[in-house]
Amino acid sequence: MKLILFFTVSLLAGLAYSAPVSSEEDENVVVTPEFFPDELAVHTFDHDPVKILTPLNALNFEDDDDDESSDSDATTTFVVLADKDDQGNKVYKGLYSLISGEATKILENGRDAAAANDDTKLVYFAASDGIYVYNAEKKSADKYGSVSDDLIGIAKVNGSDAIYVLSADHFVYKVTENGNKKEKVDAIVDAQQIILDYQNNLFYYTSDKSVYVYVNGEVKKIGGLPEHASYVEILNPAFVFDNGAPVIVDNKSYLIYENGTSEAGDFEFQVKPTAYSMEATLIQYYAYNKKVYEYNVLAIILGEMMEELKKFLDDKTDAIQSIATRSRSDLRA
Ligand SMILES: *[C@@H]1O[C@H](CO)[C@@H](O)[C@H](O)[C@H]1NC(C)=O
Ligand SMILES: *[C@@H]1O[C@H](CO)[C@@H](O)[C@H](O)[C@H]1NC(C)=O
Ligand SMILES: *[C@@H]1O[C@H](CO)[C@@H](O)[C@H](O)[C@H]1NC(C)=O
Repeated sequence: MKLILFFTVSLLAGLAYSAPVSSEEDENVVVTPEFFPDELAVHTFDHDPVKILTPLNALNFEDDDDDESSDSDATTTFVVLADKDDQGNKVYKGLYSLISGEATKILENGRDAAAANDDTKLVYFAASDGIYVYNAEKKSADKYGSVSDDLIGIAKVNGSDAIYVLSADHFVYKVTENGNKKEKVDAIVDAQQIILDYQNNLFYYTSDKSVYVYVNGEVKKIGGLPEHASYVEILNPAFVFDNGAPVIVDNKSYLIYENGTSEAGDFEFQVKPTAYSMEATLIQYYAYNKKVYEYNVLAIILGEMMEELKKFLDDKTDAIQSIATRSRSDLRA
Protein backbone atom coordinates (compact mmCIF):
# COMPACT_ATOMS: atom_id res chain seq x y z
CA MET A 1 0.00 0.00 0.00
CA LYS A 2 2.66 2.45 1.10
CA LEU A 3 4.72 1.24 -1.83
CA ILE A 4 1.95 1.87 -4.32
CA LEU A 5 1.43 5.32 -2.87
CA PHE A 6 5.10 6.09 -3.17
CA PHE A 7 5.05 4.74 -6.69
CA THR A 8 2.16 7.04 -7.51
CA VAL A 9 4.09 9.98 -6.17
CA SER A 10 7.37 9.05 -7.69
CA LEU A 11 7.03 7.39 -11.09
CA LEU A 12 6.95 10.25 -13.52
CA ALA A 13 7.10 13.04 -11.04
CA GLY A 14 5.93 15.04 -14.02
CA LEU A 15 2.47 14.26 -12.84
CA ALA A 16 3.01 16.56 -9.89
CA TYR A 17 4.07 19.20 -12.35
CA SER A 18 1.08 19.12 -14.68
CA ALA A 19 -1.31 19.99 -11.94
CA PRO A 20 -4.71 18.31 -12.21
CA VAL A 21 -3.83 15.07 -10.48
CA SER A 22 -6.61 13.09 -8.95
CA SER A 23 -5.92 11.32 -5.69
CA GLU A 24 -8.49 8.68 -6.62
CA GLU A 25 -6.60 5.42 -6.53
CA ASP A 26 -8.48 3.75 -9.32
CA GLU A 27 -7.98 6.58 -11.75
CA ASN A 28 -5.05 6.37 -14.15
CA VAL A 29 -2.78 9.30 -14.75
CA VAL A 30 -2.55 9.91 -18.50
CA VAL A 31 0.90 10.98 -19.63
CA THR A 32 0.61 13.69 -22.30
CA PRO A 33 3.16 15.97 -24.02
CA GLU A 34 2.50 18.51 -21.22
CA PHE A 35 4.50 16.22 -18.92
CA PHE A 36 7.60 17.41 -20.75
CA PRO A 37 7.74 21.20 -20.24
CA ASP A 38 10.78 23.08 -21.58
CA GLU A 39 11.62 24.35 -18.08
CA LEU A 40 12.51 20.82 -17.01
CA ALA A 41 14.69 19.98 -20.03
CA VAL A 42 18.36 19.72 -19.03
CA HIS A 43 19.92 18.63 -22.31
CA THR A 44 19.03 18.14 -25.98
CA PHE A 45 20.88 15.36 -27.80
CA ASP A 46 21.18 14.77 -31.56
CA HIS A 47 19.51 11.35 -31.19
CA ASP A 48 16.94 9.80 -28.88
CA PRO A 49 18.14 8.61 -25.48
CA VAL A 50 17.07 4.94 -25.18
CA LYS A 51 18.55 4.35 -21.72
CA ILE A 52 19.21 6.61 -18.75
CA LEU A 53 20.89 5.26 -15.63
CA THR A 54 21.21 7.15 -12.35
CA PRO A 55 23.69 5.05 -10.32
CA LEU A 56 22.61 4.53 -6.70
CA ASN A 57 26.20 4.30 -5.49
CA ALA A 58 28.93 6.60 -4.19
CA LEU A 59 28.96 8.49 -7.49
CA ASN A 60 25.68 10.09 -6.44
CA PHE A 61 25.30 9.26 -2.76
CA GLU A 62 28.46 9.98 -0.80
CA ASP A 63 28.70 9.39 2.92
CA ASP A 64 28.82 12.67 4.85
CA ASP A 65 32.28 11.91 6.21
CA ASP A 66 33.72 11.33 2.74
CA ASP A 67 35.90 14.09 1.36
CA GLU A 68 33.87 16.72 -0.44
CA SER A 69 36.29 17.36 -3.27
CA SER A 70 34.07 16.29 -6.16
CA ASP A 71 31.18 18.20 -7.72
CA SER A 72 29.14 16.88 -4.83
CA ASP A 73 25.46 17.58 -5.32
CA ALA A 74 25.35 17.35 -9.11
CA THR A 75 23.71 14.07 -10.14
CA THR A 76 25.70 11.91 -12.55
CA THR A 77 23.62 10.00 -15.07
CA PHE A 78 24.56 7.92 -18.11
CA VAL A 79 22.65 8.17 -21.35
CA VAL A 80 22.70 5.80 -24.33
CA LEU A 81 21.57 7.24 -27.66
CA ALA A 82 20.08 5.40 -30.63
CA ASP A 83 18.07 5.92 -33.78
CA LYS A 84 15.48 3.39 -34.94
CA ASP A 85 15.81 1.80 -38.38
CA ASP A 86 12.83 0.86 -40.62
CA GLN A 87 12.32 -2.41 -38.70
CA GLY A 88 12.35 -0.58 -35.37
CA ASN A 89 15.81 -1.89 -34.45
CA LYS A 90 18.16 0.34 -32.50
CA VAL A 91 21.09 1.92 -34.33
CA TYR A 92 23.28 2.96 -31.39
CA LYS A 93 24.84 6.43 -31.32
CA GLY A 94 27.09 6.42 -28.27
CA LEU A 95 27.06 6.49 -24.47
CA TYR A 96 27.37 9.79 -22.60
CA SER A 97 27.65 11.01 -19.05
CA LEU A 98 25.26 13.83 -18.20
CA ILE A 99 26.23 16.03 -15.23
CA SER A 100 24.51 19.38 -14.55
CA GLY A 101 23.14 19.37 -18.08
CA GLU A 102 26.56 18.87 -19.63
CA ALA A 103 26.99 15.77 -21.80
CA THR A 104 30.36 14.08 -22.33
CA LYS A 105 30.82 11.17 -24.70
CA ILE A 106 32.23 8.27 -22.67
CA LEU A 107 32.02 5.34 -25.06
CA GLU A 108 31.35 5.47 -28.80
CA ASN A 109 30.16 1.83 -28.95
CA GLY A 110 28.34 1.74 -25.56
CA ARG A 111 24.81 0.29 -25.50
CA ASP A 112 23.70 -0.07 -21.87
CA ALA A 113 24.82 0.86 -18.34
CA ALA A 114 24.40 -0.68 -14.87
CA ALA A 115 25.59 -0.11 -11.32
CA ALA A 116 25.13 -1.86 -7.99
CA ASN A 117 23.54 -0.23 -4.97
CA ASP A 118 26.80 -0.03 -2.99
CA ASP A 119 29.63 2.23 -1.76
CA THR A 120 31.69 2.06 -4.95
CA LYS A 121 31.79 4.49 -7.85
CA LEU A 122 31.69 1.62 -10.33
CA VAL A 123 29.42 1.79 -13.36
CA TYR A 124 29.58 -0.94 -15.99
CA PHE A 125 28.86 -0.51 -19.67
CA ALA A 126 27.83 -3.05 -22.30
CA ALA A 127 29.57 -2.35 -25.60
CA SER A 128 29.92 -3.92 -29.04
CA ASP A 129 33.24 -5.48 -27.95
CA GLY A 130 32.61 -6.46 -24.33
CA ILE A 131 32.35 -4.78 -20.93
CA TYR A 132 33.77 -1.42 -19.82
CA VAL A 133 33.90 0.28 -16.43
CA TYR A 134 33.54 4.01 -15.78
CA ASN A 135 36.67 5.96 -14.93
CA ALA A 136 35.25 8.80 -12.81
CA GLU A 137 38.54 10.71 -12.69
CA LYS A 138 39.10 10.85 -16.43
CA LYS A 139 35.39 10.80 -17.34
CA SER A 140 36.09 7.92 -19.68
CA ALA A 141 35.67 4.14 -19.86
CA ASP A 142 38.25 1.40 -19.27
CA LYS A 143 37.95 -2.11 -20.69
CA TYR A 144 36.81 -4.56 -17.99
CA GLY A 145 37.85 -8.21 -18.04
CA SER A 146 38.28 -10.36 -21.11
CA VAL A 147 34.72 -10.71 -22.48
CA SER A 148 34.72 -9.55 -26.09
CA ASP A 149 31.15 -10.36 -27.19
CA ASP A 150 28.90 -7.93 -29.03
CA LEU A 151 26.69 -6.83 -26.09
CA ILE A 152 23.42 -4.90 -25.93
CA GLY A 153 22.46 -5.25 -22.24
CA ILE A 154 24.04 -5.33 -18.80
CA ALA A 155 22.82 -5.71 -15.20
CA LYS A 156 25.04 -5.58 -12.09
CA VAL A 157 24.31 -8.04 -9.28
CA ASN A 158 24.34 -6.31 -5.89
CA GLY A 159 26.70 -7.65 -3.25
CA SER A 160 28.95 -9.81 -5.48
CA ASP A 161 31.18 -9.28 -8.50
CA ALA A 162 28.67 -10.98 -10.80
CA ILE A 163 27.39 -9.16 -13.86
CA TYR A 164 24.73 -10.37 -16.30
CA VAL A 165 25.24 -9.39 -19.91
CA LEU A 166 22.95 -9.75 -22.91
CA SER A 167 24.55 -10.38 -26.28
CA ALA A 168 23.34 -8.96 -29.59
CA ASP A 169 22.31 -12.52 -30.53
CA HIS A 170 20.09 -12.61 -27.42
CA PHE A 171 21.97 -14.92 -25.08
CA VAL A 172 22.43 -14.05 -21.42
CA TYR A 173 25.77 -14.73 -19.71
CA LYS A 174 26.77 -14.46 -16.08
CA VAL A 175 30.23 -12.90 -15.84
CA THR A 176 32.37 -13.29 -12.68
CA GLU A 177 36.04 -13.23 -11.60
CA ASN A 178 36.54 -9.57 -12.48
CA GLY A 179 35.11 -9.96 -15.91
CA ASN A 180 37.16 -12.99 -16.87
CA LYS A 181 34.77 -15.91 -16.45
CA LYS A 182 31.70 -16.15 -18.65
CA GLU A 183 28.90 -18.73 -18.22
CA LYS A 184 25.87 -18.96 -20.49
CA VAL A 185 22.54 -18.93 -18.67
CA ASP A 186 20.88 -21.77 -20.59
CA ALA A 187 17.44 -21.27 -19.03
CA ILE A 188 17.07 -17.87 -20.70
CA VAL A 189 16.37 -17.76 -24.44
CA ASP A 190 15.62 -14.91 -26.83
CA ALA A 191 16.03 -12.09 -24.27
CA GLN A 192 15.65 -8.57 -25.67
CA GLN A 193 16.35 -6.56 -22.50
CA ILE A 194 17.56 -7.45 -18.97
CA ILE A 195 16.86 -5.63 -15.67
CA LEU A 196 17.67 -6.68 -12.08
CA ASP A 197 15.51 -5.73 -9.13
CA TYR A 198 16.97 -4.98 -5.67
CA GLN A 199 16.74 -8.67 -4.66
CA ASN A 200 18.81 -9.66 -7.68
CA ASN A 201 15.87 -11.18 -9.59
CA LEU A 202 16.50 -10.88 -13.32
CA PHE A 203 13.58 -9.70 -15.46
CA TYR A 204 13.63 -9.92 -19.24
CA TYR A 205 11.29 -9.99 -22.22
CA THR A 206 11.40 -12.00 -25.41
CA SER A 207 10.83 -11.11 -29.08
CA ASP A 208 7.12 -12.02 -28.78
CA LYS A 209 6.93 -9.38 -26.00
CA SER A 210 6.32 -11.86 -23.17
CA VAL A 211 7.93 -10.92 -19.85
CA TYR A 212 9.81 -13.45 -17.68
CA VAL A 213 11.73 -13.54 -14.43
CA TYR A 214 14.82 -15.68 -13.77
CA VAL A 215 15.04 -16.69 -10.08
CA ASN A 216 17.25 -19.39 -8.53
CA GLY A 217 18.08 -20.95 -11.86
CA GLU A 218 14.46 -21.11 -13.03
CA VAL A 219 12.44 -19.09 -15.48
CA LYS A 220 8.85 -18.01 -14.78
CA LYS A 221 6.53 -16.22 -17.19
CA ILE A 222 4.92 -13.15 -15.64
CA GLY A 223 1.15 -13.58 -15.66
CA GLY A 224 -1.57 -10.98 -16.05
CA LEU A 225 0.09 -8.85 -18.72
CA PRO A 226 -1.56 -8.14 -22.09
CA GLU A 227 -0.88 -10.79 -24.78
CA HIS A 228 0.39 -9.82 -28.24
CA ALA A 229 1.78 -6.51 -27.06
CA SER A 230 3.70 -4.39 -29.53
CA TYR A 231 5.83 -2.49 -26.99
CA VAL A 232 7.53 -3.64 -23.78
CA GLU A 233 10.10 -1.76 -21.71
CA ILE A 234 11.22 -2.96 -18.26
CA LEU A 235 12.45 -0.14 -16.02
CA ASN A 236 15.07 0.00 -13.29
CA PRO A 237 12.91 0.21 -10.16
CA ALA A 238 12.87 3.19 -7.81
CA PHE A 239 14.91 2.31 -4.71
CA VAL A 240 11.78 2.25 -2.56
CA PHE A 241 10.86 -1.05 -4.24
CA ASP A 242 11.76 -4.06 -2.06
CA ASN A 243 11.39 -6.40 -4.96
CA GLY A 244 9.96 -6.31 -8.45
CA ALA A 245 10.18 -3.80 -11.25
CA PRO A 246 7.90 -1.53 -13.26
CA VAL A 247 7.21 -2.43 -16.87
CA ILE A 248 5.45 -0.52 -19.60
CA VAL A 249 3.39 -2.78 -21.88
CA ASP A 250 1.90 -0.98 -24.89
CA ASN A 251 0.60 2.19 -23.27
CA LYS A 252 0.11 1.12 -19.64
CA SER A 253 2.34 0.67 -16.60
CA TYR A 254 2.45 -2.51 -14.49
CA LEU A 255 4.46 -3.81 -11.57
CA ILE A 256 6.00 -7.26 -11.98
CA TYR A 257 7.22 -9.52 -9.18
CA GLU A 258 9.64 -12.40 -8.73
CA ASN A 259 6.72 -14.74 -7.90
CA GLY A 260 5.49 -14.38 -11.49
CA THR A 261 2.58 -12.05 -10.75
CA SER A 262 1.87 -8.55 -11.97
CA GLU A 263 -0.45 -5.73 -11.04
CA ALA A 264 -1.65 -2.70 -12.94
CA GLY A 265 0.24 0.53 -12.28
CA ASP A 266 -1.22 4.01 -12.29
CA PHE A 267 -0.04 5.32 -15.62
CA GLU A 268 -1.37 5.34 -19.15
CA PHE A 269 0.74 6.83 -21.90
CA GLN A 270 -0.64 9.01 -24.66
CA VAL A 271 3.02 9.70 -25.43
CA LYS A 272 5.88 7.58 -24.15
CA PRO A 273 9.31 8.63 -22.97
CA THR A 274 12.12 7.06 -25.03
CA ALA A 275 14.03 6.40 -21.77
CA TYR A 276 13.11 6.31 -18.08
CA SER A 277 15.20 6.73 -14.91
CA MET A 278 13.25 6.72 -11.66
CA GLU A 279 15.78 4.78 -9.53
CA ALA A 280 16.88 7.77 -7.42
CA THR A 281 13.16 8.39 -6.68
CA LEU A 282 13.38 12.03 -5.58
CA ILE A 283 15.24 13.05 -8.70
CA GLN A 284 14.14 11.35 -11.89
CA TYR A 285 15.00 11.64 -15.56
CA TYR A 286 12.91 10.93 -18.63
CA ALA A 287 13.73 11.43 -22.29
CA TYR A 288 11.30 12.61 -24.94
CA ASN A 289 11.99 13.96 -28.44
CA LYS A 290 15.80 13.84 -27.96
CA LYS A 291 15.61 15.88 -24.74
CA VAL A 292 16.38 14.72 -21.21
CA TYR A 293 14.03 16.14 -18.55
CA GLU A 294 14.88 16.31 -14.87
CA TYR A 295 12.09 15.94 -12.31
CA ASN A 296 13.19 17.05 -8.89
CA VAL A 297 10.21 15.80 -6.94
CA LEU A 298 10.68 18.00 -3.89
CA ALA A 299 11.32 21.14 -5.95
CA ILE A 300 8.22 20.43 -8.01
CA ILE A 301 6.03 19.83 -4.98
CA LEU A 302 7.45 22.87 -3.17
CA GLY A 303 7.14 24.89 -6.38
CA GLU A 304 3.47 23.98 -6.54
CA MET A 305 3.06 25.08 -2.96
CA MET A 306 4.71 28.41 -3.75
CA GLU A 307 2.31 28.87 -6.66
CA GLU A 308 -0.61 28.17 -4.36
CA LEU A 309 0.73 30.61 -1.80
CA LYS A 310 1.32 33.30 -4.44
CA LYS A 311 -2.15 32.78 -5.82
CA PHE A 312 -3.62 33.03 -2.35
CA LEU A 313 -1.79 36.30 -1.74
CA ASP A 314 -2.68 37.65 -5.22
CA ASP A 315 -6.34 37.04 -4.50
CA LYS A 316 -5.97 38.95 -1.30
CA THR A 317 -4.07 41.88 -2.84
CA ASP A 318 -7.06 44.24 -2.90
CA ALA A 319 -7.96 43.47 0.66
CA ILE A 320 -4.36 43.86 1.76
CA GLN A 321 -4.10 47.20 -0.08
CA SER A 322 -7.31 48.54 1.39
CA ILE A 323 -6.16 47.56 4.85
CA ALA A 324 -2.81 49.28 4.20
CA THR A 325 -4.50 52.46 2.87
CA ARG A 326 -6.97 52.52 5.68
CA SER A 327 -4.33 52.23 8.31
CA ARG A 328 -2.30 55.03 6.71
CA SER A 329 -5.31 57.37 6.59
CA ASP A 330 -6.32 56.21 10.00
CA LEU A 331 -2.89 57.25 11.18
CA ARG A 332 -3.18 60.69 9.55
CA ALA A 333 -6.61 61.26 10.98
C1 LIG B 1 23.83 -4.20 -1.88
O1 LIG B 1 25.15 -4.55 -1.46
C2 LIG B 1 25.65 -3.71 -0.45
C3 LIG B 1 27.08 -4.08 -0.16
O2 LIG B 1 27.60 -5.00 -1.02
C4 LIG B 1 24.79 -3.83 0.78
O3 LIG B 1 25.27 -2.97 1.80
C5 LIG B 1 23.35 -3.44 0.44
O4 LIG B 1 22.52 -3.65 1.55
C6 LIG B 1 22.85 -4.26 -0.73
N1 LIG B 1 21.57 -3.71 -1.13
C7 LIG B 1 20.50 -4.44 -1.26
C8 LIG B 1 19.26 -3.72 -1.67
O5 LIG B 1 20.50 -5.64 -1.09
C1 LIG C 1 3.64 -11.94 -5.25
O1 LIG C 1 4.51 -10.92 -4.73
C2 LIG C 1 3.88 -9.66 -4.48
C3 LIG C 1 4.96 -8.67 -4.07
O2 LIG C 1 5.81 -9.18 -3.10
C4 LIG C 1 2.80 -9.84 -3.43
O3 LIG C 1 2.17 -8.60 -3.19
C5 LIG C 1 1.79 -10.86 -3.93
O4 LIG C 1 0.83 -11.10 -2.93
C6 LIG C 1 2.48 -12.18 -4.31
N1 LIG C 1 1.49 -13.05 -4.94
C7 LIG C 1 1.46 -14.36 -4.71
C8 LIG C 1 0.38 -15.10 -5.42
O5 LIG C 1 2.24 -14.91 -3.97
C1 LIG D 1 -4.01 3.27 -25.13
O1 LIG D 1 -4.24 2.31 -26.16
C2 LIG D 1 -5.60 1.96 -26.32
C3 LIG D 1 -5.68 0.84 -27.32
O2 LIG D 1 -4.86 1.09 -28.43
C4 LIG D 1 -6.39 3.19 -26.74
O3 LIG D 1 -7.75 2.89 -26.85
C5 LIG D 1 -6.21 4.29 -25.67
O4 LIG D 1 -6.83 5.49 -26.07
C6 LIG D 1 -4.73 4.56 -25.43
N1 LIG D 1 -4.59 5.49 -24.31
C7 LIG D 1 -4.01 6.69 -24.43
C8 LIG D 1 -3.93 7.50 -23.18
O5 LIG D 1 -3.57 7.13 -25.48
